[in-house]
Amino acid sequence: MKSSELPIPYGWYAVEYIDELAVGEVKPLHFFGKDLVIFRTESGKAVLLDAYCPHLGAHLGHGGEVHGESIACPFHGWEFDGEGMCTKVPYAKNMPAKIQDSPCIEGYPIVEANRVIWAWYHPRNIAPLFDVDILPEVNEPGWTDCHRFEWEINTCLQETGENGVDIAHFVYVHSSIEMPEAHVELSGHHRITTMHSRTPAIDENGVLDQTGENWEKSRLVTTSCGPGMTYQSFERMFTSFMLGTITPIEKGKVLMRWTFAQPEDQSDIQKMYSDGMIAEIARQVGQDIPIWEHKIYQPNPILCDGDGPIAKYRKWFNQFYDGGMDDAPIRLVQ
Ligand code: FES
Ligand SMILES: [Fe+2]
Repeated sequence: MKSSELPIPYGWYAVEYIDELAVGEVKPLHFFGKDLVIFRTESGKAVLLDAYCPHLGAHLGHGGEVHGESIACPFHGWEFDGEGMCTKVPYAKNMPAKIQDSPCIEGYPIVEANRVIWAWYHPRNIAPLFDVDILPEVNEPGWTDCHRFEWEINTCLQETGENGVDIAHFVYVHSSIEMPEAHVELSGHHRITTMHSRTPAIDENGVLDQTGENWEKSRLVTTSCGPGMTYQSFERMFTSFMLGTITPIEKGKVLMRWTFAQPEDQSDIQKMYSDGMIAEIARQVGQDIPIWEHKIYQPNPILCDGDGPIAKYRKWFNQFYDGGMDDAPIRLVQ
């Protein structure tokens, strides 16, 4: 089965960084298999609508202008607000009856949190079924943004998330010295993955112990809030926090973004190690991408007893497909 055959799951998805959409700004976007327009109204509210004007079909993201709380179409000046209601037809004596009481463009619920503009997508336009987690590390003073990364990848959300519980691939794709242990806890739309591994100890002079004799046990806890948001904090001799977002562009194509934050008062040497770790995990994504882009999705994989909690992960992910997927039982071959 190709990853482009899996449906787009419902959830909150990052569509833009808050600081990349100024008051009055209008941008075309393409997510969820749809052409979209995002704009920020004069009062500062971010709005996401389907792109095409219900009048004669102009794309509001190419030449549309913010007028107060609405966007004006570049073609004949009709205006639409954040709910997709037509607020003005500048040259009509009477508003067309059809658009007087109900929206005429599809809009998306929006939350601005964690430096990100999140849009709720559901294939049947059902209202949000859970909330975006609020993360102190990216909201409170004392933390600073340090790095942002972005990849457009020909795969689907379920596949990239599965990477985190697929412990064997760390050895074969990322050259980890040994397989980590992964434990998954599920609670509604949350998934918490705890990974135990051993990593080279770093002494007070910043020197890595490569002998393997004094390795530190490390524990990494990753929380997912629905299919489009994941976060983790790294605490060793430095502190670093990562927010990962993944947004469906089309079936079989995703935009993955990572943003890192760190405490402002971290020393230069701590920042240097944090930067080194961030560069390394970004490099590892580069190793995953060719696998993701060329693999198929195996709905009935043959798993062995050394594989990670893949079946548990899939059961959790399945809840975000509207109507579920017909997953046949997973075979375990030992
Ligand atoms: S196409 Fe938008 S106002 Fe005519
Ligand atoms: Fe990986």
